[in-house]
Amino acid sequence: MRWGGLPRFLIFSFPRHRNRQSVPGRLVNWIAGINTMGRIVCVANQKGGVGKTTTAVNLTASLASLGRKVLLVDIDPQGNATMGCGVNKHELQSSTCDVLLGEQKLQAAITRSPTADFDVLPANSDLTAAEVGLMSAPLREKRLSLALEGADERYEFIIIDCPPSLNMLTLNALVAAHGVLIPLQCEYYALEGLSALINTIRQIQSSRNPNLKIEGILRTMHDPRNRLTNEVSAQLMHYFKNHVFSTIIPRNVRLAEAPSHGLPILLYDSNSRGAVSYLALASEFLQRNGQTLNATA
Ligand SMILES: Nc1ncnc2c1ncn2[C@@H]1O[C@H](COP(=O)(O)OP(=O)(O)O)[C@@H](O)[C@H]1O
Ligand SMILES: [Mg+2]
Repeated sequence: MRWGGLPRFLIFSFPRHRNRQSVPGRLVNWIAGINTMGRIVCVANQKGGVGKTTTAVNLTASLASLGRKVLLVDIDPQGNATMGCGVNKHELQSSTCDVLLGEQKLQAAITRSPTADFDVLPANSDLTAAEVGLMSAPLREKRLSLALEGADERYEFIIIDCPPSLNMLTLNALVAAHGVLIPLQCEYYALEGLSALINTIRQIQSSRNPNLKIEGILRTMHDPRNRLTNEVSAQLMHYFKNHVFSTIIPRNVRLAEAPSHGLPILLYDSNSRGAVSYLALASEFLQRNGQTLNATA
């Protein structure tokens, strides 16, 4: 139960402030055991092509547009999140790879998105080498967690885009995170993959990161004309209930076009259904984290 037993009205009845969560709001969250300062959320699903990167980039951009200080961490050697927010992965001075290998400080490797209002820890194919290097390194699964120490004072949210496998890089993200956001395409094999991921999350909860929570399951690339999509969606709601975000991300071609311009959807086409749905997701995400909605956009 996310609200730690507190009546909901307590969470939403405090005065609203621009840009930041109110002090009483933070106090209530602290009492309720919800960490909202520097909350680290990884976007994970071992299946490729389910909308992880699209969600990581656009949730980050939408939270930023609502006035939150956000860091996007790319921990996928494909560097798609890096490119998707306008940073050229072929011209990086330093990257997630250097940070994980302890060769660069986090702050020195972070760059500003040239197109949007948030910071990025960028990545490229060097991360593949880092993964190999990490295999024999001490504290290999805690490298990201250790690197992010202190960043929670500079950012309200840190969103991590994971690669499409349950490898050492994803493990680093799951060990560092407070929450896992699981994008899921409502198709035949989706639920099977989901149970494997949830088993992994349980193992990590019981061994390395007892604070890890399921932030929510997000239905992506949703096409309501497809009968199977609706069936899988109904099953998800039945089994996972309030762990499923009520916001649904529709299939929308503008979302697929935006990364090729290095832009989050809000900056590429703010009127598109994709932009509206990711903004709604950011609002729901903030509400689930006990924050009032003080939009500045
Ligand atoms: N809601 C959507 N509607 C249309 N295309 C989408 C949507 N979400 C993602 N895509 C496209 O689908 C492909 C896979 O999405 P991506 O976010 O890269 O998945 P992952 O990171 O899980 O591999 C990309 O080409 C992306 O642009
Ligand atoms: Mg991806």
